[in-house]
Amino acid sequence: MSLTDMLAIVGGFTLVFYLLKLAWGCWCGFREFVLSEHWKVDLRTYGRWAVVTGATSGIGKAYACELAQRGLDVILVSRSEDKLRTVAKEIENEYGRKTRTIQVDFTEGHRIYPVIAKELEGLEIGILVNNVGMIYTENFACFMEPPDAEEKTNQLINCNVLSVPQMTRLVLPEMIKRGTGLIINISSAVGVRPQPLLALYSATKIFVTYFSQSLHAEYKSKGISVQCVAPFFVSTNMTNNMEVNCLVKSASDFAREALNTVGHSSYTSGCLSHALQSAAFLVLMPDWFRMSTFLIRKLKKIPKLGKHDGRLCKDNKRLNDKEE
Ligand SMILES: NC(=O)c1ccc[n+]([C@@H]2O[C@H](COP(=O)([O-])OP(=O)(O)OC[C@H]3O[C@@H](n4cnc5c(N)ncnc54)[C@H](OP(=O)(O)O)[C@@H]3O)[C@@H](O)[C@H]2O)c1
Repeated sequence: MSLTDMLAIVGGFTLVFYLLKLAWGCWCGFREFVLSEHWKVDLRTYGRWAVVTGATSGIGKAYACELAQRGLDVILVSRSEDKLRTVAKEIENEYGRKTRTIQVDFTEGHRIYPVIAKELEGLEIGILVNNVGMIYTENFACFMEPPDAEEKTNQLINCNVLSVPQMTRLVLPEMIKRGTGLIINISSAVGVRPQPLLALYSATKIFVTYFSQSLHAEYKSKGISVQCVAPFFVSTNMTNNMEVNCLVKSASDFAREALNTVGHSSYTSGCLSHALQSAAFLVLMPDWFRMSTFLIRKLKKIPKLGKHDGRLCKDNKRLNDKEE
């Protein structure tokens, strides 16, 4: 066999390998985002109650409403008593499900978990959504730029990192005993790779991703599913209620589509639009460019995350405030 023949065979195998890989990726995406619309897991099979952290607005509130609509009673965990009461009432009236509320501030660290444990005692928790999260500053900024960096660092780590394993620890033993349970952890697309100017936030989200993926591998044989959701932009208070369009999802659409992916994927962008953005980012934003001083300078000039159309942002905010 000549060298040319050998190269042709290697080239042929490589081509077939990549074509099969592409076909497999397309099938997985089709199943996750298209078939899942009609082929949904009955979430009630996990248990009667769902716990959602950060449930009074944005993605958390949308998950709570969607879970209630799909037949679960919901425990809302957040920091504002008034908002908790309003959202609980809204869910009871609209979906006819039972609710409970737990008022805690996740920035306070380890001392809140005995309080939450007491409130959850005796309830059949089927689903936990670890959604609560905050950002370091409203605009892109270097780590040491905010004046209160020490306090902010503790708060962010307590809220975005500590809450995830601590809440998991509270519900997992009973799930294992029952042989079923679902834990959904909200990470972020900026947690997939390091993101300068969101350094701490991005680092907290890769923690969520790795923790979720490892936990899924450890407990799937015991009937527990752990799903990591890594969205791009969703229009919420965190993103200054930016305009909803083909790239930016409304919280309710996002939660509905992301919940459809349960049972189809243990790591997801949550919806087709965000999955496509994720794939495009990998190609169009290589690490050398993301980390470049040029891009950092450009990002620093953006005044506020998600602030690009004042009128629409305000309209959206008014709508959200009305919802709340
Ligand atoms: N929005 C996006 O584009 C996006 C993209 C990727 C990932 N995420 C992630 O998605 C999750 C939800 O984000 P979101 O955009 O929905 O945020 P959001 O609109 O700011 O809502 C956050 C929720 O968490 C509650 N909360 C915040 N800090 C808290 C604390 N210290 N203790 C207790 N509750 C607290 C808030 O309560 P209040 O109502 O009292 O403020 C609110 O209910 C976060 O983990 C975020 O990192 C968001």
